[in-house]
Amino acid sequence: MNARVRPQAPDAAAAAGAHLLRPMQLADLDAVARIETAVYAFPWSRGNFADSLSAQYHAQVLTDAQGAVCGYFVAMPGVEEMHLLNIAVAPQAQGQGLSLLLLDTVTLLSQAGGALLLWLEVRPSNVHAVRIYERYGFYPITRRRDYYPAVDAQGRPCREDALVMSAQVGDLLQRRGLRAAPPA
Ligand SMILES: CC(C)(COP(=O)(O)OP(=O)(O)OC[C@H]1O[C@@H](n2cnc3c(N)ncnc32)[C@H](O)[C@@H]1OP(=O)(O)O)[C@@H](O)C(=O)NCCC(=O)NCCS
Repeated sequence: MNARVRPQAPDAAAAAGAHLLRPMQLADLDAVARIETAVYAFPWSRGNFADSLSAQYHAQVLTDAQGAVCGYFVAMPGVEEMHLLNIAVAPQAQGQGLSLLLLDTVTLLSQAGGALLLWLEVRPSNVHAVRIYERYGFYPITRRRDYYPAVDAQGRPCREDALVMSAQVGDLLQRRGLRAAPPA
């Protein structure tokens, strides 16, 4: 479920530098949970990540030159499709193009698993993430009403819709100039 792939798109390769991707392990979950709580107002619990590992979802961490975890993704394979459940880059590592490295890896894993379609949900208020997905090649499909917990301007609990975005894996491979890595 967690085969290593080597993204080759020039912008992702440039951003990668000394960063490496490897399968997420239970031992990573403290570091992952620290990033998760730093970047999300409504973070996944450590248990959500542990369940994803138990379910053998695709889950990888991005490590920096010191080997510290600075990003990750979790994606759930389905029948001819892949659902990106979570993707994050640590605050101090953001803005370097590392999301492209993570997204390219998800795209290549989707191809390797025979997925034709890649999809995700995102908060419409997360304009930064929506823009990154649009630039990457995702397009909006629909909205899921009241999908996410949220707080209103007065700090009262409310709900926020999810924007569902999707892309054909073949389109992303072509758009990003990605090829499956040869066997090591
Ligand atoms: C959304 C998120 C994953 C993006 O990660 P990121 O690594 O900071 O994103 P990138 O660096 O790849 O792209 C950010 C910017 O850097 C730019 N960039 C791309 N390649 C670059 C490079 N090689 N060098 C410098 N900047 C680059 C991008 O153009 C982008 O510009 P923008 O700010 O105008 O959009 C990150 O902000 C995050 O973890 N957010 C919190 C969690 C979250 O919202 N996840 C998505 C939920 S659906």
